[in-house]
Amino acid sequence: MGYKDVYAAWKADPETFWMEAADAIDWVKKPTRALFDDNAPLYEWFKDSEVNASWNAVDRHVEAGRGDQDAIIYDSPVTDTKSRITYAKLQDKVAALGGVLTEKGVTKGDRVIIYMPMVPEAIIAMLACARIGAVHSVVFGGFAANELAVRIDDATPKAVLAGSCGIEPGRIVEYKPLLDEAISLASHKPDFCVILQRPQCIANLVEGRDIDWADAVANASPADCVAVSGDHPAYILYTSGTTGAPKGVVRPTAGHLVALNWTMKNVYDVDPGDVFWAASDVGWVVGHSYICYAPLIHGNTTIVFEGKPVGTPDAGTFWRVMQDYNVKSFFTAPTAFRAIKREDPTGALIKDYDLSGLKALFLAGERADPDTIIWAQDQLGVPVIDHWWQTELGFPAACNPMGIEALPVKVGSPSVAMPGYDMQVLDDAGHPLPVGELGAIVAKLPLPPGTLSTLWNAEDRYLKSYLTTFPGYYETGDAGYIDEDGYLYIMARTDDVINVAGHRLSTGAMEEVLAGHPDVAECAVIGVADTLKGQLPLGFICTNTGTDRTNEDILAECVARMREQIGPVAAFKHAVVVDRLPKTRSGKILRGTMVKIADCQDFKMPATIDDPAILDEIRTALKTIGYASAG
Ligand code: COA
Ligand code: AMP
Repeated sequence: MGYKDVYAAWKADPETFWMEAADAIDWVKKPTRALFDDNAPLYEWFKDSEVNASWNAVDRHVEAGRGDQDAIIYDSPVTDTKSRITYAKLQDKVAALGGVLTEKGVTKGDRVIIYMPMVPEAIIAMLACARIGAVHSVVFGGFAANELAVRIDDATPKAVLAGSCGIEPGRIVEYKPLLDEAISLASHKPDFCVILQRPQCIANLVEGRDIDWADAVANASPADCVAVSGDHPAYILYTSGTTGAPKGVVRPTAGHLVALNWTMKNVYDVDPGDVFWAASDVGWVVGHSYICYAPLIHGNTTIVFEGKPVGTPDAGTFWRVMQDYNVKSFFTAPTAFRAIKREDPTGALIKDYDLSGLKALFLAGERADPDTIIWAQDQLGVPVIDHWWQTELGFPAACNPMGIEALPVKVGSPSVAMPGYDMQVLDDAGHPLPVGELGAIVAKLPLPPGTLSTLWNAEDRYLKSYLTTFPGYYETGDAGYIDEDGYLYIMARTDDVINVAGHRLSTGAMEEVLAGHPDVAECAVIGVADTLKGQLPLGFICTNTGTDRTNEDILAECVARMREQIGPVAAFKHAVVVDRLPKTRSGKILRGTMVKIADCQDFKMPATIDDPAILDEIRTALKTIGYASAG
């Protein structure tokens, strides 16, 4: 069957489509049906089933005779380490860590925060939680203590599993002091922390609270898999929204298993035993879905890569990893390819490696610019597939489904809607727009299995953020259009989310940080175009009248504050002081117009602008830091 038939089959009978996909999962108790819509617009999938994610990702492969196959390959150019973990070994490790958690009182439904670098233990930690029915919440290592504290207070974890440090090129990032600070900032205190001591940095353990990972697992009795109901949260993953408070996306277990497993063959075209590599981080949804769960559920070998596309040691690292482990399908963010292309524009390093095993490259996380796609296609000689999804969705909503049918590639489009997604484009009043017209991208409810069911502790916010603007639809927050062949084009966000090196950040959260500076009277943060990272945040600051501080000092403190409060991942390095911000007559800051000025794009003078002269002041200020000047 080709794509059109598969999509039509889903549309005609979604219940049968998903029940058939569910056959690939090992159930403790089989679901009697797929969709539970009695509480619409809140939906559940496979709710009356019982299942265990860790069993499906690990034990069942051992039972089926795949125990000796590599489950995880760890390749860490930043520590010069490589290792392999078979499915049988992974089972032991996951069961042992599950045993540690159980012995310390963690039970089904308890939350566990994971704050770890890209080491196999991060995956083991996720699976150990899943094994005992605990709900994990992984926090990206590039976030500061304050962001970790916010997540600790929201998720109220019984335990934290952390690494002593992460390794960034040229520096060791000590995680443990950040964790200690986060726990002291948070109102909620976890009962205990399990610390993975890495040889690069041995952390001080707090007596009575912290335990050493290696000692603990050495003495643990292995935990069995605990059956959970289909709607049991597998994890909470925080993502940026419109305000400073992150949204805790809740992922129900059964739908996530069914949908992720389905994508491995149909989207990524890999079979059990193939090596699949997603070069991302466990802290992001790509890490959850495509470093940890999907490849393991499907019986693939996954790669945990601790390094960067460039500088560890060079722009050939990705090719080396692909060659050494015979990677069949590879997934990363376009920014990684832009970084490689910048260092090695002619692709000279690619020629040093045998990449004959590679069948396709998948890009997501941000808009894939045509230059990057074409460069990658030319260099690698394999299909380069842009695909689109979000933390909330958990797996691709629009893609060129390589395992079903390789559709014609249209550069600039992540291709067509996947089964499960009825994508539409609406105007502000919620009316469907004709082909080719730009509007809000929405998905008709219900969303498929594997997508979020709600926001942790914030059902109202879930309803308000996603389901209220366009009743009957899920609002993606992206704007774009659909062409005459059903190809989707993602053009912009409709909210204040920006995308920096494939990392989703909220400018609203950044404004809150700037506004907290005692000398800042008013501020705005916008995302400006960047040739490497796609977008970069840029701050505008109006200082308090009468302050005796210099602008330089205030700006430097603002940059430091952002690093301290949000983290280095925000990449907030540029800000300017201005007298006033451009606003509408009703007082709304004209951020969109400021973006256009910074990026040297044409724009229409907003009809509601209070004082057009301010735009010239903004342009002049931007020129002092290298923006708003074409060429
Ligand atoms: N722990 C601690 N700090 C981290 C971190 C982590 N896990 N990850 C990143 N940081 C820090 C970096 O050290 C850097 O700090 P600096 O300002 O002191 O240099 C800052 O956060 C920004 O990091 P990064 O976004 O990685 O930028 P970079 O300039 O170091 O590298 C790229 C640029 C393009 C190579 C890099 O962004 C990249 O590999 N991007 C791929 C993105 C990706 O995989 N996204 C996942 C979505 S699919
Ligand atoms: P995240 O939740 O971090 O995965 O970020 C999701 C957002 O990233 C989407 O809502 C889009 O704005 C953007 N995004 C992800 N993939 C793509 C893509 N292929 N093309 C354009 N934008 C994308």
